[in-house]
Amino acid sequence: HEAETPSLRTPIVAVLGHVDHGKTSLLDKIRGSTVIEGEAGAITQHIGATAVPLDIVSKVAGKLVNPDDFDLPGLLFIDTPGHHSFTTLRSRGGALADIAILVVDVNDGFQPQTEEAINILAQSQTPFVVAANKIDTTPGWNPNPDSPIQGTYDAQSERARSMLDQNLYELIGELSDAGFSADLYWRVQNFQNNVGVVPVSAETGEGVPDLLTVLMGLAQRYMREDMEIDVTGPGAGTVLEVKEEKGFGTTLDVVLYDGTVGADETVVVGGKNEPIVTDVRALLKPRPLAEIRTEDRFEKVDSIGAAAGVKIAAPDLGDAMAGAPVRVVRDREIDDVIEEVEAE
Ligand code: GTP
Ligand code: MG
Repeated sequence: HEAETPSLRTPIVAVLGHVDHGKTSLLDKIRGSTVIEGEAGAITQHIGATAVPLDIVSKVAGKLVNPDDFDLPGLLFIDTPGHHSFTTLRSRGGALADIAILVVDVNDGFQPQTEEAINILAQSQTPFVVAANKIDTTPGWNPNPDSPIQGTYDAQSERARSMLDQNLYELIGELSDAGFSADLYWRVQNFQNNVGVVPVSAETGEGVPDLLTVLMGLAQRYMREDMEIDVTGPGAGTVLEVKEEKGFGTTLDVVLYDGTVGADETVVVGGKNEPIVTDVRALLKPRPLAEIRTEDRFEKVDSIGAAAGVKIAAPDLGDAMAGAPVRVVRDREIDDVIEEVEAE
């Protein structure tokens, strides 16, 4: 049993980028897990969701993020596939995002799905930070695990530093060609007009403290500016996956991006032919730091607030579809809510 009434809504952070550039690895580093090892063919084929509490963000970020400076409950990370055949999933992930991380392999630079991802972010005007990943693969690199970037950069040989610099400047040039004024994050004064580039390694953790620091800055500002977000209203979400779950029948993995949902409430879900109206039978919450698409132990909760990944068990979900909207009816006219779901 728990009552979840966060003062500020948890920001949704989408992780986008070209196949193999290190999105899942970066999330594994942050949540201290190895989701990537369980992936078929080592590529991500679904959208994932992981709640990372503020104290973990600040633990990974070290002294760069003081939890007292933030009134955010944490971050909800959305992992997306980079393989070219999953354009729909990338758009869906991008549409959920408040802010984003664009992951780019610093050796490979811009690739087709980098372009695609940046177009999605540009269209939705989603603020983002660029993770220039795999800096540890720079020839001659001498890793300093989990260190902030400045310290490890200064400790490299002249040669390794200049190789990395060259890759970073090429990347900044590519961002500029794509219409974004970008620079290394410590040179950016105004993150509203400029995109920060953070050199990182998902493998060694170097630069990850910096990445989280920039992300928290973006998140804090975004959440303050967007006052329209209602943390207590009737819940709204998107179905990530429709799954059979032992003891529960057909269930929905949902990203709740607005409001709250209670364990006994009526919801309307987009279906193959028509909207499904059903009553929630159980709300199942993944553990903190667990990826919802691989989680096997859920906690039963009475209610949950945005943003969160949640598994919803309810009757009649057989025709529900990934990507479909989910709406809590609460005190509204059911026909209005059905219309709203049909309109999406
Ligand atoms: P998709 O989900 O399929 O788009 O790929 P992804 O972006 O999630 O990449 P993933 O995390 O699966 O990593 C791809 C490969 O790159 C794996 O073999 C990782 O171990 C490796 N990798 C990721 N980040 C780094 C890094 O910073 N350094 C090194 N050396 N290898 C990395
Ligand atoms: Mg992946």
